[in-house]
Amino acid sequence: MKNVTLIAAIGKKNELGKNGDLVWKLKEDMQFFKEQTMGKPMAMGYNTFYSLRGGKPLPGRQHIVLTSREIEPNPQVTIVRSVEELLKYIEDYKEEVMIIGGSKFYQTMLPYANKLLLTEIESEDKEADVYFPEFKKEEWNREVLSTHKENDITFYHVMYTRKER
Ligand SMILES: NC(=O)c1ccc[n+]([C@@H]2O[C@H](COP(=O)([O-])OP(=O)(O)OC[C@H]3O[C@@H](n4cnc5c(N)ncnc54)[C@H](OP(=O)(O)O)[C@@H]3O)[C@@H](O)[C@H]2O)c1
Repeated sequence: MKNVTLIAAIGKKNELGKNGDLVWKLKEDMQFFKEQTMGKPMAMGYNTFYSLRGGKPLPGRQHIVLTSREIEPNPQVTIVRSVEELLKYIEDYKEEVMIIGGSKFYQTMLPYANKLLLTEIESEDKEADVYFPEFKKEEWNREVLSTHKENDITFYHVMYTRKER
């Protein structure tokens, strides 16, 4: 689908998170995430939703949460009960929908994505417990948007766009 973008920050071994939280907290990357998602719907799995301030939505963005659980009603949160229901939402919405994690959810949505916005972090963490899925690099064009260094950690904002299928 042309309007599906995955956004994630990953370590050298595709590390995504540990103990229900992020592995690295990088200010300039938080800013990038904010800029890229502001005003757009963000779809996520339950654990990622919960990892955002204990389930308190971020301002200025509709949260689409895939879960079988009950969540406290909030006008900023749309609950979907299946991947099919989410795909229907995306199809009807037409504009860009951001897929913000986590691991299982990225894996499910990767085949539908046309764009990946990855923060590639030049660091490793053996204690990570969730990982970004492997993907075939030859199926994507890779463009480095910017290079950063924070607390001695170098990271890149990279855009992958899917080659014609
Ligand atoms: N580095 C990053 O960019 C980044 C981004 C996001 C998250 N994270 C990290 O990743 C971790 C959370 O990710 P996670 O992989 O544990 O969980 P997750 O994908 O956020 O949530 C898993 C839950 O969401 C629902 N779900 C997700 N995918 C589904 C599917 N394909 N089909 C059906 N239900 C699905 C299920 O909820 P129910 O059990 O309620 O049905 C499932 O238990 C945290 O550590 C977080 O900090 C990192």
